[in-house]
Amino acid sequence: MRIILLGAPGAGKGTQAQYITEKYGIPQISTGDMLRAAVKAGTPLGVKAKAVMDAGELVSDDIIIGLVKERITEADCENGFLFDGFPRTIPQADALKDAGVVIDAVVEIDVADDEIIKRMSGRRVHPGSGRTYHLVFNAPKVEGKDDVTGEDLVQRADDVEEIVRDRLNVYHDQTAPLISYYKGWGEAKKPNAPKYVYVAGVGTVDD
Ligand code: AP5
Ligand code: ZN
Repeated sequence: MRIILLGAPGAGKGTQAQYITEKYGIPQISTGDMLRAAVKAGTPLGVKAKAVMDAGELVSDDIIIGLVKERITEADCENGFLFDGFPRTIPQADALKDAGVVIDAVVEIDVADDEIIKRMSGRRVHPGSGRTYHLVFNAPKVEGKDDVTGEDLVQRADDVEEIVRDRLNVYHDQTAPLISYYKGWGEAKKPNAPKYVYVAGVGTVDD
C-alpha cells in the first residue's frame, strides 16, 4: 500500500500516520522529520535546511526529491509506505510520477486555518520518534514526557503563531494545487490514478 497524506501544517498528518502505518505495516516517510533529523545531526543538508524551515518556507524541490528517491529504495519500503508532507509542490508530484512510483491512495485531511493555529500552539513532539501530542487535545500520560520512552517533549521552532501563518500561506500557494492535481487525474480516468479520499479533519483524533 502506497499512500500520500495531504493536508495543511497542523492538519493532523503526523498524528494519523501513527495509526495508518500500524494498520498496514508500512513505514512513515515524513520529509519534515527527515529534515529535522538532519538539522539535529548538523549535516550539511541540515545546516542548509534550518533557516528555510525556521522561516516556514519550503526546502528546494531538488533536495527533497533526492531524499525521497533514496529513502523509498530501503528494504522496509518493500510493501509500501506512507508519505507525510510529501509531495508538497507540483514539481515534487511530477518527479514521483516520472519515477514510475504508483500511488494507491491520496488522503486529504482538511482543517480550517483558525483551528490549525489553536492546534499548533499546543503541539509538543518527541524528537527521537516524531510522536506528536497536544497539551489539551492529545495530552501525554505524564506531562512533558513521551508515552513510550519517558523522554522529554519539545516545542518545534516553527510553531510560533507568526510562522504558522506564513506556513499556511505557503500551503495555500504551493501545496493546495495538488488537490486538483490528484482529483483531476482520477476524474480524467488516466492510468495509475490514485484513489482520492477526503477526510474532514475536525473530529477528535480517534474520529
Ligand atoms: P512538516 O514537518 O511536514 O510540517 P507540516 O506539513 O507543516 O505539518 P506539521 O507536522 O506541522 O503538521 P501535521 O499535519 O503533521 O499535524 P500534527 O499531526 O503534528 O514540515 C516542516 C518543514 O519542513 C516545512 O515547513 C518545510 O520547510 C520543510 N519540508 C518538509 N517537507 C517538505 C517538502 N516535501 N518540500 C519542501 N519542504 C519541506 O498535529 C498538529 C497538532 O494538532 C498536534 O499537537 C496534534 O496533537 C493536534 N491534533 C491532531 N489531530 C487533532 C484533532 N483531530 N483534534 C485536535 N487536535 C489534533
Ligand atoms: Zn507532521
